[in-house]
Amino acid sequence: MKNGCQIQVMKIGIVTLFPGMFTALSEYGITGRAVRNKLLQLNYWNPRDYASDRHRSVDDRPYGGGPGMVMRAEPVSLAITAAKSAISANENHAAWVVYLSPQGKPLDQQHVAKLVQRQNLVLMCGRYEGVDERVLSSQIDEECSLGDFVLSGGELAAMALLDAMIRLLPGALGDADSALQDSFSNYGEDDLKNTNLLDHPHYTRPESFAGMNVPPVLLSGDHAQIELWRLQQRLGITWQKRPDLFDKMQLTAQQQQLLDAFKRVNTQTGKIDKE
Ligand SMILES: C[S@@+](CC[C@H](N)C(=O)[O-])C[C@H]1O[C@@H](n2cnc3c(N)ncnc32)[C@H](O)[C@@H]1O
Repeated sequence: MKNGCQIQVMKIGIVTLFPGMFTALSEYGITGRAVRNKLLQLNYWNPRDYASDRHRSVDDRPYGGGPGMVMRAEPVSLAITAAKSAISANENHAAWVVYLSPQGKPLDQQHVAKLVQRQNLVLMCGRYEGVDERVLSSQIDEECSLGDFVLSGGELAAMALLDAMIRLLPGALGDADSALQDSFSNYGEDDLKNTNLLDHPHYTRPESFAGMNVPPVLLSGDHAQIELWRLQQRLGITWQKRPDLFDKMQLTAQQQQLLDAFKRVNTQTGKIDKE
């Protein structure tokens, strides 16, 4: 109990043939600290433990022929069922089952934030050519992709999703505001709610490095000016690197002015030639 309210620990079951891979996440950095501090519970369910044949086989040749192997329906389905019931015990709703798959909707920050709200998740990691379709149609709530490329297995994708979710858990980051200031986040500005701006540039000591100086405004101590400069950089960098992100945004008059000024300076200096 903290501040009089019950903190709900996120429970995540991971269905994987290679649970050992997840030590890269659970033993290092911010994610490792979150696991040690019990901000979330990670449990692993290996389909091999649910294979009933003598060789505990989890894969077989595809019907219809062709290259590669397919994850067998029975052990995968049993592992998902076991993960779901363990995670949903004492909860009033069933765990949401996500299959990491190149065929899913590509993940973005807003989607990650929605998945964090679910609290109880099962992440299914495929291997080989994928999982028997009958498991996907009966056991999976949602397919999520890391992007339009093919990995050898779902574990790296699951770890990427977990890392992105853990950053959003209260108490996971040293400074709670830093997640708000990341790219694709709202930065706490009401008039930029639901926007996708990229982050502004960051500098640390020394003031001069290889002939390049820290922008003077950052040394001025004028916090209002620093905030304005950072907002302008976020607008400008988004325009330079990801102009497509503006399609979903409605800029205020002030933001548009800041962006126009950024464009003028950066087009004149030849730093970037966009128009
Ligand atoms: C070699 S892939 C199978 C690809 C599948 N035959 C296809 O082309 O759609 C093996 C596993 O890696 C995972 N995987 C591969 N690419 C991924 C991606 N872009 N995002 C999330 N998971 C992915 C999935 O779990 C998949 O079952």
